[in-house]
Amino acid sequence: MAETEKKKESNIVLALDFPFEKPENRKNLFSRAERLLGDVHPYLCAVKFNHHLVLPMGTFDGVHKLVKMAHDEGLMAIMDCKVNDIGSTNQVIAEYYYAAGFDALIANPFIGWEEGLKPIFDIASRLHRGVILLVYMSHKAAEEGYGQTIFDPETGEKLSQYVSFAKKALKYNADGAVVGATYPEKIREVHEILGEKVPIYSPGIGAQGGTAQAALMAGATYLIVGREIMLAENPGETAKKTRDSAKSAKRSSLTHLS
Ligand code: XMP
Repeated sequence: MAETEKKKESNIVLALDFPFEKPENRKNLFSRAERLLGDVHPYLCAVKFNHHLVLPMGTFDGVHKLVKMAHDEGLMAIMDCKVNDIGSTNQVIAEYYYAAGFDALIANPFIGWEEGLKPIFDIASRLHRGVILLVYMSHKAAEEGYGQTIFDPETGEKLSQYVSFAKKALKYNADGAVVGATYPEKIREVHEILGEKVPIYSPGIGAQGGTAQAALMAGATYLIVGREIMLAENPGETAKKTRDSAKSAKRSSLTHLS
């Protein structure tokens, strides 16, 4: 991903989330996505897919074509499936998404390692793909789960759930950690644990109230942006503006963090 970021001179990951379409009109989604990617691809480093598109379009005859289109433009493709099941199921989910061409998928560390995350990391390492872990989500109720105080089973000490997840992201050598841009103080804390070893992906810019500046200053590497670009009157122009302001915020953050 770092190479793509450098080549494309962008740290923006587009969340390709269209609003609900009547199932009978779902074919429109492909042409909308194709048009949008055509407009915004110069300003991105990756495209993030969600159930928003996989559900109506399907995988191999649907989003697969958009994944290929992203690759043809030199972008990475991330599947935000937040894998959260038992290992045998996770393994098959990961195998299908990687077979569809996704470079990385997002998984939920609440499931733990043995018979949880391990099968996903095993497949990813065999296929040279990535696994990005949730660490602190961007929505209001994130605190109820990711913000709980827990007892570390190894040391018996109290710590926050997200601190434990950040430590696990480091231990498992994850390819990324997701921390909401709506919580810059959590990004800062997680960045202190991860350093430059595991990049922070930060969603929640714009529509959810987070800002690129605050997320980058706190230590985020990549910004995940959906509605701000998707629902803009001119998505190409908005994507360019977002990329440019992220670039200048990143320059200041490098000075600030060093
Ligand atoms: P907006 O429209 O708010 O979309 O820019 C954000 C996108 O990011 C996803 N999202 C998350 N994904 N952890 C994730 O893995 C999170 O904490 C998180 N918060 C938002 C959301 O599904 C949408 O695609």
